[in-house]
Amino acid sequence: MINLDHLIVEFDKGIRTLFSQAHSVRPHPDASLTDVPMEESEKTAAAALMRVNHSGEICAQALYQGQSLTARDPEVQEKLQLAAQEETEHLAWTSKRVYELGGHLSFLNPVWYTGSLAIGAAAGLLGDKWNLGFLSETEQQVGQHLQSHLARLPQQDEKSRAIVTQMYTDEIGHADMATSLGGAELPQPVKFAMKINAKVMTTLSHQI
Ligand SMILES: [Fe+2]
Ligand SMILES: [Fe+2]
Repeated sequence: MINLDHLIVEFDKGIRTLFSQAHSVRPHPDASLTDVPMEESEKTAAAALMRVNHSGEICAQALYQGQSLTARDPEVQEKLQLAAQEETEHLAWTSKRVYELGGHLSFLNPVWYTGSLAIGAAAGLLGDKWNLGFLSETEQQVGQHLQSHLARLPQQDEKSRAIVTQMYTDEIGHADMATSLGGAELPQPVKFAMKINAKVMTTLSHQI
């Protein structure tokens, strides 16, 4: 059941996700690397890709928060919270990198956040098996997307590449966790619809 106290806590989390700087417990993956000179066009291109990744992490925050609004097994809840902590770190890494590259965060983040919160809550209402299946599929799709960014980021942008590489490792870990907790394989049309949804978000966040 969703209660009012829980809703207020989640609303507060949402405001913080959108408007305050996230904190990373682990060192940033690029902490030991120094920026190398890049052409302005390369920096702009890298900033746009990292802006997309930051928007993806805004969605991840909202999905996990949406899922935690709905009742579930305490063990599943605990594992989801651990994964959500790593998602908060991804948010911190990507936002810092976007600014270092001279870019800005997506103006559409409040839209992505709201939509993802609703999707997460809806998935949670379907029960743990489908909720975890949805989570696993989401994380696998994010992993594929991050791999594509490794192919597109400038070769010399080692800082962005280090961040994306660690995020990839974490997202695959989240997918495996969701599957091992009993997540069901989603029907193909649902997977396809999720890909279309993600494509809209990534295309728009790349621009604005
Ligand atoms: Fe993430
Ligand atoms: Fe993840």
